[in-house]
Amino acid sequence: MAIEQTFSIIKPNAMKKNAIGDIVSMFEANGLKIAAAKITVLTADKAGEFYAEHKARPFFGELVSFMTSGPVMLMCLQGEGAVLKNREIMGATDPKKANAGTIRSKFGDNVGENAVHGSDSVESAARELALFFEKHEICNV
Ligand code: TYD
Ligand code: MG
Repeated sequence: MAIEQTFSIIKPNAMKKNAIGDIVSMFEANGLKIAAAKITVLTADKAGEFYAEHKARPFFGELVSFMTSGPVMLMCLQGEGAVLKNREIMGATDPKKANAGTIRSKFGDNVGENAVHGSDSVESAARELALFFEKHEICNV
């Protein structure tokens, strides 16, 4: 399988739980490397642009308000099949349905406050990474 890059966010609820180390350890234990990272607070404009595909959904307002409620950690993860591998490590969108041992099962609170984001395809990853990182900020690790 090819080396890929994917976009990851540690969301505000997981940041409040002091879970950066635990979450990054799970990525590293599964062979993913951190190729870029920054901690920031998202603006509503940026969070809305990021989640543009969900603009018409009933949960959009709450989603933007949650994502801007505190610091987040933005990352580029790199490794073999990184997009799918990250989705497997994360678990299902709804923490109640996420497999035991996944990030969302450990640190998610509910379907909205589900601890992490991960790109759903190589194409989404490219769009999302470009929204938050300059090219020179991503290292080939
Ligand atoms: P989605 O892209 O469907 O899930 P994922 O993050 O697993 O790719 O949805 C994006 C985010 O929208 C999701 O992480 C949390 C929020 N969301 C809700 O708040 N309620 C919902 O019913 C769904 C489906 C998503
Ligand atoms: Mg998604």
